[in-house]
Order: sequence, then C-alpha cells, then structure tokens
Amino acid sequence: MVAESIPHPDAEVARFVTPSAWAEAQRGNVDELLLEQAHLEKKAAAGAVAFLFRLPLHRGLHRRLSALGREELVHFERTLKLLEQRGVAFARQPSSGYAERLKRSARREHRERLVDELLIAAIIEFRSHERMTLLAAALDEVAPEVAAFYADLCPAEERHERLYLDLTTLLADADAVRARHVELLAVEAQILRESPFAARLHSGLPRGDAGSSAARA
Ligand SMILES: [Fe+2]
Ligand SMILES: [Fe+2]
Repeated sequence: MVAESIPHPDAEVARFVTPSAWAEAQRGNVDELLLEQAHLEKKAAAGAVAFLFRLPLHRGLHRRLSALGREELVHFERTLKLLEQRGVAFARQPSSGYAERLKRSARREHRERLVDELLIAAIIEFRSHERMTLLAAALDEVAPEVAAFYADLCPAEERHERLYLDLTTLLADADAVRARHVELLAVEAQILRESPFAARLHSGLPRGDAGSSAARA
C-alpha cells in the first residue's frame, strides 16, 4: 500500500528566495514573459503525460497526474488567448536553459532518475509559483489583466508542486526523498545565482541583487 502523501519539506528546507526587485525589473518585459509562459505550459503538460507512462501504476496518483496535465493545457490555451489579446504572435523563443540545467543533475540509475525528475518538476512548480506571485504584485499597475492572470494560476502551481512530491512515494521512502530534495534545491539555488537576469520566469536576478536563502516558515 502506497502512502499518497509525504510531509511537506518547507519547514526544514532552505530555498533560494527571489526578491521583489526581480519582478519589478520585469515590468517592461510583459509580452516576452507571456510568450515564454505559453511554451512553459505546453512543456508542463507534455511532462505530466510522459510521467503517466513512466511511473509505477497507482490509480489515485495517476488520476491526479492526468488532471494536472489537463490543467496545464488549459493554462496553455489561456496564455495563447492573452497573447492574442495583446497582439503578440505565438512564435519560437530560445529557452532560458533553467530546466535543462536542473535536469542535468538527475542521477543515472532508472529509479533514482525518476525520483530526481519528479523532484525537479516539483522545484520548477515551486519556483514558478514564487515568481508568478511576485509578478502578480509588480505588474498590477502596468498590465492589470496579466497580473490577475498570474495571480489566478498560482494556486494550481502550488498544488502541482505537492503532487510531484507525493508521486515520489511510488519510488522511494520519504527520508531518502527529503535528503535528495535538499541537494537538488542547492543545485537550483546555484543555477539561479549563476544565471543572468532576462525576460524569463526562471532567470537570474537583476545586477547587484544577490538574493538570499531561507527556510520558509
Ligand atoms: Fe501551469
Ligand atoms: Fe504547473
């Protein structure tokens, strides 16, 4: 019998904390961020469906994962609509490299690799949630409809982080998962510190802002 939930690690895990200055520095980049958002939602949907084929079968968790995939596609469609309203063409765009860099730190052995990929998916959802929350506040005056859109997506991203953590219970015990989560969060913090500031959801910080690490209460 698989436990469907593991304790949320927030109380004990130090995470990179993005300052509000990052979102304030994005005020002139709304269209580029939205274009990236469309690509990110599409990738998130594809990632969820891919996990449905790779993870051990479990009715409850697979149902939740299927719902997550559908939800990401709805986010994709909503982003396309917003782009259209703003007169922005849906076009190719170079990726920030953030997710690709994170995925390079996944271990090789089959089961460990899956655990790492789930943890990386959870970290990406967490970071997206954090940054969208900041954007919702920072864009309120320059693009209120975009600010409202980001605010509206936030609860889903938080749920998605939770589900990816829960899915690790199909593969490994909670202590091992938690230890690896801490390691991968440190990798992520390093990636964010080394990345340049850009019009991307997972970019580095504006010049002169080093960010901080802290455990969320
Ligand atoms: Fe999404
Ligand atoms: Fe998501």
